[in-house]
Amino acid sequence: MKILITGGSGKLGTAVVADLVAHGHDVVNADVVAPPTAQCPYLEVDLRDFGEVFEAISGVDLGRPSDAVVHLAATPAPGRRSNARTFQNNIVGTYNVFEACRRARVHNVVYASTEIIFGLPFATPPAYLPVDEEAPARPESAYGLSKLLSEEMAKQFCRWEPELKCFGLRFSNVQSPEDYANFAGFQERPEERHWNLWGYIDARDGAKAVRLALESPLKGAEVFTIANAETTQSMGNSELVGRCFPEVRLPDGLGENETLLSIDKARRVLGYEPDHHWWSEPG
Ligand SMILES: NC(=O)c1ccc[n+]([C@@H]2O[C@H](COP(=O)([O-])OP(=O)(O)OC[C@H]3O[C@@H](n4cnc5c(N)ncnc54)[C@H](O)[C@@H]3O)[C@@H](O)[C@H]2O)c1
Repeated sequence: MKILITGGSGKLGTAVVADLVAHGHDVVNADVVAPPTAQCPYLEVDLRDFGEVFEAISGVDLGRPSDAVVHLAATPAPGRRSNARTFQNNIVGTYNVFEACRRARVHNVVYASTEIIFGLPFATPPAYLPVDEEAPARPESAYGLSKLLSEEMAKQFCRWEPELKCFGLRFSNVQSPEDYANFAGFQERPEERHWNLWGYIDARDGAKAVRLALESPLKGAEVFTIANAETTQSMGNSELVGRCFPEVRLPDGLGENETLLSIDKARRVLGYEPDHHWWSEPG
């Protein structure tokens, strides 16, 4: 496929570009900053400018209309910029990408959503565990709100365009291989990771999930939680949850180190299965 990726210069984007190129796709990276290392052609695009986005996605000048779009570019967390600027960047950027896809008749769109929608940092305990896509949305920041509203935009664009697939991947906390050096410290202070239910996503597994979502023949707006299969901790779930969320009961049959961010839907619908485990990574 000819794939236009936004945010291909970033942490997750670098892994996604590498994976898509390795699987034979023809990828162009549209980002406001150049990548540290070029893995594919790069186009400087500011997503807040609709003309720039439309030109990139439709391939007007490149002579290369896109078959699919992966939309990762965003201000990727709360607290990096003012709330208003985060909200504006993410909402306007996402609208421009979805609208450019609609006008250019690109019907295969995968975009980054986030675990934050589940209610991170869980000052209010989760309603149940493991959390899944049916859990009530509870964004606690302008960043989380921008992502929840992006999911709503995806639903409405799919209502307008029945041929459209617009899949949102609710990524957990992204870890590049060099980040595994931090995991020893996580074991010493397990309470410090309660804010995202001890979840993580290896960037390479996140990239695999993007590829599987692109390859899915389904249509419509769906969201999928994308995390690794186990928590960041060697301490078991009974003790972690007992310490940090004593009011929440764990279901029978849940593995002691099994992720508390359920990936069952991604497994079932996309055939997603993570390949990496923090405990077997050099750290
Ligand atoms: N990092 C995480 O732990 C995490 C967790 C859940 C979801 N996500 C989501 O995954 C996506 C990628 O996150 P990341 O960690 O790789 O972030 P990152 O900051 O490393 O990369 C984001 C990229 O988007 C680009 N960008 C931002 N605004 C832009 C604009 N207006 N126009 C063009 N390019 C722009 C940046 O230049 C950067 O290269 C984001 O949508 C983020 O919200 C990240």
